[in-house]
Amino acid sequence: MKTKILTFLRTNNDFVSGQELCEKLGVSRTAVWKVINQLKADGYKIEAVKNKGYRLVSSEDVLTESELRSAFLANGQTKQFGASVFSYDVIDSTNNMAKKLAEDGAGHGTLVVAEQQTGGKGRRGRNWVSPPKTGIWMTYVLRPDILPANASMLTIVAAMAVLDGVRNEINRLGTKVDCAIKWPNDIVLNGKKIVGILTEMSAEPDFVNYVVVGIGINVNTTDFPDDIKDVASSVYLETGIHLQRSRVIADITSQFEKYYETFIKTENLCGLVDDYNARLANVGKQVKIIDSRMERVGVAHGINENGELLVTLEDGTKENVISGEVSVRGLYGYV
Ligand code: BTN
Repeated sequence: MKTKILTFLRTNNDFVSGQELCEKLGVSRTAVWKVINQLKADGYKIEAVKNKGYRLVSSEDVLTESELRSAFLANGQTKQFGASVFSYDVIDSTNNMAKKLAEDGAGHGTLVVAEQQTGGKGRRGRNWVSPPKTGIWMTYVLRPDILPANASMLTIVAAMAVLDGVRNEINRLGTKVDCAIKWPNDIVLNGKKIVGILTEMSAEPDFVNYVVVGIGINVNTTDFPDDIKDVASSVYLETGIHLQRSRVIADITSQFEKYYETFIKTENLCGLVDDYNARLANVGKQVKIIDSRMERVGVAHGINENGELLVTLEDGTKENVISGEVSVRGLYGYV
């Protein structure tokens, strides 16, 4: 009922009468009043005026289940993504929790969100700094009926959704930004990394049990450790805008479901290649490819339907770069 009342208030800029809420929800005035008080205690500012009713004056930037469900409803219903939401104050890692929930049977599209992670995990065994109130630390549980070899492409699908979600929310507030994907799945704003994605899988040789797609977004972060502060930034530091995190999550969730449905039809990226390449910062740029063998330099053209980055090297030879095996950097900066 909390979610429903919050959604009613959120979707009405004007007052909603107590009577209307009672009739729509089939509950007593006292029950409505109790929920309004709970919402106030959660930090929402709700104006209550006699003979007019209730009006939501401002929403708190909280990530409770009610807030997330209400943001999802206001954004437009998804089919499975976000249908089940688990929200925590402090956990070690949303990826770890998502894996536990998946082992216990959590359904496709389940979303795990935490206000703070004490053991946030990055790629290549690095840690991911995840302080409270500043970012979005979340993981989707997916159960795709695909070959395990194709699962890594889900990271690319997620990157498109995250870029769109973050950019939509910034644009909605009237600001245009230079936000793009750095192959394969970092999101950069003004050339600095604001998002990282870590995908993990449980599979048999020819069967995927589940995939967890963990997404870390630096939304309102103002401080970064010395070792990453040259390459990492946040939406706030780059734009001066404070995004409401629940709205960003709702937007990403619906974009992710949409792109996922396109991906799953073919089990590859052929339906998404053009959209992805249009969002790719590396296109037409010089890149340095780094792996255990050597460093080489070339110009990137975009990805193919398998998510490989197509690069023409300095000597004219062409290389399809496979993610996970190499890292790619810009010649003169991160991108
Ligand atoms: C990277 O190194 O770029 C990937 C970072 C992924 C961080 C996110 S935060 C939510 C989820 N839980 C984790 O422990 N890691 C991912």
